[in-house]
Amino acid sequence: MFDQANHLREKVLQKTSEKERRQTRIIAVTSGKGGVGKSNFALNFALSLVQQNKKVLIFDVDLGFANVDVLLGRFNKESIATMIEKDLSILDIIEEGPNGLLFISGGTGFNDMFRLDDIKLNKFFTELSTIQGMVDYIILDTGAGLSYENLRFILAADDVILVTTPEPTSITDAYSIVKMIHTKDKNVHMKLIINQCTSEKEGKQTADNFTNVTEQFLHKKIGTLGYIPSDVSVPNAVKKQVPFLMAYPNCDASKAMQNVTSNFLQISVPYKLGIKGFILKMLFKN
Ligand SMILES: Nc1ncnc2c1ncn2[C@@H]1O[C@H](COP(=O)(O)OP(=O)(O)OP(=O)(O)O)[C@@H](O)[C@H]1O
Ligand SMILES: [Mg+2]
Repeated sequence: MFDQANHLREKVLQKTSEKERRQTRIIAVTSGKGGVGKSNFALNFALSLVQQNKKVLIFDVDLGFANVDVLLGRFNKESIATMIEKDLSILDIIEEGPNGLLFISGGTGFNDMFRLDDIKLNKFFTELSTIQGMVDYIILDTGAGLSYENLRFILAADDVILVTTPEPTSITDAYSIVKMIHTKDKNVHMKLIINQCTSEKEGKQTADNFTNVTEQFLHKKIGTLGYIPSDVSVPNAVKKQVPFLMAYPNCDASKAMQNVTSNFLQISVPYKLGIKGFILKMLFKN
């Protein structure tokens, strides 16, 4: 691993061209507990950024239970796993979704890549580096909880969006994930989304309690990005396999998503290395 990694490190550190300096920001969407609404959030947030004229790629890295393509009503034949297996280029496996939203799946087998095979890992990072500057945002829809792979994605991303519901079980698991991430790296930018709130008041209270606790006990400041109400349009859109932002643009969840997006876009963006930084962190942070 080490020689390969060093070789790749040198490659990605080579002098950057102007085009490569265009920032591609990588955002990991994660949660402690499963089933809190990460994939629906990630997909509709991505679409909402597209509506703000951003170029966005959603990358489904929920390795066991990939389902962004199901939410889009698309069956993605190719994935990172098949890209490696068939020696394809990353451009061969990127699919175009609604409104020009781009997406790729990790695919089964992608999981093992980080543990087993340096050549595969090298291929993955080399291909990934070719999309530097192509999009403004790469949104990673990660699995729930802290698997080894999830943690690597989270620690390498520019921003982490942590999704929780107001339920105590979800909150407790979200706290555990913050604690674990914070132990590994104190500088991770984490933002909170409270999903499936019964009211804005409940969302705000939950967020305030959570961020107070993380600040008091972990000395970790977490910003709140917003609240998404519990809205029957979300499961209805899932059944239609159309993102709720498109199926029900005026529903409460869609309106809340637009607020979240405008909050997100107001956050100042420090200069980052983009995909190169992501790859370097994936290679060297454990
Ligand atoms: N704001 C909401 N209002 C109502 N239902 C919601 C909302 N958000 C998500 N759901 C429902 O919650 C369920 C889980 O959503 P989703 O698949 O996005 O969660 P997830 O966190 O990605 O799950 P997993 O951990 O399995 O990947 C879906 O059935 C979805 O319809
Ligand atoms: Mg999911």
